[in-house]
Amino acid sequence: MTLAWLDPAAVPETLFAAWLEAAVAAEINDPNAMSLATVGEDGIPNIRIVLLKGFDQDGFSFFTNYESRKGQELLNQPRAGLCFHWKSLRRQVRATGTVERVSAAASDAYFATRPRRSQIGAWASIQSSPLADRAEFEKRLAEFNARYPDTVPRPPHWGGFVLRPKTIEFWQELEFRLHDRVLFKRDADGSWYGERLYP
Ligand SMILES: Cc1cc2nc3c(=O)[nH]c(=O)nc-3n(C[C@H](O)[C@H](O)[C@H](O)COP(=O)(O)O)c2cc1C
Repeated sequence: MTLAWLDPAAVPETLFAAWLEAAVAAEINDPNAMSLATVGEDGIPNIRIVLLKGFDQDGFSFFTNYESRKGQELLNQPRAGLCFHWKSLRRQVRATGTVERVSAAASDAYFATRPRRSQIGAWASIQSSPLADRAEFEKRLAEFNARYPDTVPRPPHWGGFVLRPKTIEFWQELEFRLHDRVLFKRDADGSWYGERLYP
């Protein structure tokens, strides 16, 4: 891999798109996996992995159950952090920002691309709620499978969120832990300001 110093004058969206493309080519699986940190009512962060399903001028989008722990936390406190770690490339990208639901049309469009069993799973899984045993889940899967023999509609409790970034930080591993880091912050007018940070 050729390595150039990170450029604080770069456009972070363009740089992110290039790094994601490199990760898609290099990683053995899930190059779009990212840690998502939300804030609980008690102020304690919660973190888990979700898959990035879109990146454009609006921001980073992902899909989940709006009634899950993360869904509830995002609806109560619409701010979050993201972190990608691309092990093969020895790179990290972090972002923070505000979060909102994507449009119902965008959620419908993505839901329609999912395999039928995943669609049925979205109905049957009361994500983040206690499950007495696996048989209970299998029973719900069978019930929803029978309820929707043809097209499976999107459950109202399932859809996307988009994180609109206020900061994006790029990190590239270098020898002897002398890494290269650039943090981009978005100004009120929407323009980005990048600065190099000590590693
Ligand atoms: C590689 C990977 C990808 C995942 N992708 C998603 C996802 O896109 N959406 C989702 O809701 N959960 C996804 N999960 C499961 C979450 O990490 C988590 O267990 C689940 O969403 C419940 O989190 P919560 O209780 O904090 O809401 C993924 C887990 C892994 C390990």
